[in-house]
Parts: sequence; structure tokens; C-alpha cells
Amino acid sequence: MSYRVLITEPIVESVVQRLENHFRVDVGKRGDFNNEEQLVKAIPNYDALLPMLSNPVTARVIEAGSKLKIIANHAVGYNNIDLEAAKKNDVKVANTPDVLTQSSADLGMALLLAVARKIVEAQDYLKAGKFEGWEPLGFLGMELNGNTLGIVGMGRIGTALARRAKAFGMNICYHNRSHVESELEDELDATYMKSVRELAEKCDVLSLNCPLTDETHHLVNRDILAAMPDHAIIINTARGPVIDEEALAEALHSGIIGGAGLDVFENEPEVHPRILNAPNCVITPHIASATHQSRKSIGMLAADAIIGVLQGKPDSDIPNLIQL
Ligand code: GLV
Ligand code: GLV
Repeated sequence: MSYRVLITEPIVESVVQRLENHFRVDVGKRGDFNNEEQLVKAIPNYDALLPMLSNPVTARVIEAGSKLKIIANHAVGYNNIDLEAAKKNDVKVANTPDVLTQSSADLGMALLLAVARKIVEAQDYLKAGKFEGWEPLGFLGMELNGNTLGIVGMGRIGTALARRAKAFGMNICYHNRSHVESELEDELDATYMKSVRELAEKCDVLSLNCPLTDETHHLVNRDILAAMPDHAIIINTARGPVIDEEALAEALHSGIIGGAGLDVFENEPEVHPRILNAPNCVITPHIASATHQSRKSIGMLAADAIIGVLQGKPDSDIPNLIQL
């Protein structure tokens, strides 16, 4: 009798095939399992779950999974999974580090450039037939060279973004829960700031690259936004709830900050209506890891963890398992 695996929605086909070489695999319909009830209903049939970041893998889901051995999230972030419940029920959890670092840092840079140079606004103007020739005072933006990027969360993606920004001539500051190695500081000439507030005061661009946890929920609130210079740009490719979206909408509309580039939102797939119509705000629908290369590797890495666990490999041979 072979193990059963649930992939909650269609992913890159070669990943599905790889799992099918070993197990009985079901693939859900797009969005079906964005709902806890559906997961609770389905999970008793499965030995392994490959969920999307939009699937709430709650304590109820995990407790209902009487055969469940491994949850391999199709994402590097795993705030959608109740780790405590997984630990209590002896279910292993994996994520997909490294394989989306470069694609995510690319998107962070793309959003930064798009906001700083008003690319979307300028394109809208052009397409609306408003271009009447070169203007000395049209669409003046922020130059990256010589300005300061502040990174909240100098992990893999934060570091990859810092390297890109450094190549554009930016100065790098960062805040982390712990002070990172001096080697990295030397390479990037990066300055550690003791608090997010200090970082916010000091930088022209603030980028969020931290995981969503109880501590980082609404880390960027009214006070932090008010501490930023009024020309400053905020970039969020991490998780929506790291910013208080209501406060951000207000800050953008009232000119407390200069602009925002957002790939993630507090209540996805909804976007706050005042973010949708905010000035100097470029938004994308959670696509930071959306390259052919990353999405295939994400799937394969999640599949590796499932194959490893169901074939009884020791944890130490499955590098993307999360320490519970
Ligand atoms: C995307 O947001 C991810 O966490 O992989
Ligand atoms: C996620 O991959 C991070 O460490 O930034």
C-alpha cells in the first residue's frame, strides 16, 4: 500500500510527476484549500501535505491528520502552519529556503526602481496619450546612488537585496534580531542599527525581509512610518501583516512617506482600497518567487522533504526540515 500525498493546488508538472513516481498523489483545484474546513475534511486520508502559503494549516487541520507525517510548505515563509501543533502531533515541517532568494531579491529591486523612478506612473501617462515631449520637470524621482537602504531582516533575501543595492551605489543599514557576522558587514559595508526605529529614521528606503511572527506583526506602525523621512520609500516582499496597512495607506495619502512598493498585503487576496489608489505606490500580487526556475526548485525541494520523510531518512539528511 503506498503513501498518499495531497498537493493542494496545481504546481509545476515535473514536481507532481516526481512525487507520483513514489506515492499516490492528489492535486487540489486552485484555491480550494485556502479554507480550513476543506483541509480538515481532506487531511485524514493523507500521509503528506504539500500546501501553499495561502492554505491555513492550523492546529485543527494537523490534529485531524491522523496519518499525517510531513507538511512540506511550497514557500520559504511558514507562518501559515501551526508549528506548535505540528510538534505536539509529531508531524515534521519543511520549507524551501535558498531556491527563491535571488528571484525575491530581484523583485525587491524591481519594486524599488519602479517606485523610485515612477515607472508605472510614467507608463500610465504615456499610454493615456499625455506625453507631449521631453519635460525638464516631469517625473522627477529618487536616485539610488548615494542614498541609504535600510533592511529589516538581514537573512538570505535581505543579503541578496543588499548586494544588488550596493551595486547601485546605495549605503546599507540593517536591523536584525541578532547582529549578523562581521564578514557580511565588511562585504556590504553595512551598519547595524539597534532598533527598527533608528533604521527608519536613517534610511531613504526601508525594505522588509523578515519572517512574519508574533514579534514582527505590525512591526511597521504609525510611529515607524512617522519616523521615516518624508521622501522615504518602503518595500515589502515579506508578509503583509508586518505593516499596519491602515497606517501605511494614511501615510501614503498624507505624504508622511514618499512611496511604497508592495508584493504582499495584510488580507490577501484583498488589498486595502486606500492602498489601491495611493500615490507613488507600485503593487504586485505576491509574485516575488514567480520565476520558472524558482517555482520548479521550490516544488522539488518540498518534494525532496516528503520523499525523505516517507522513506524514513534521518532528519539530518533532510536539510530543509524546520527545527520544531
Ligand atoms: C513566498 O512568499 C514564500 O514565502 O515562499
Ligand atoms: C529567507 O529566505 C530569508 O532568509 O530571507
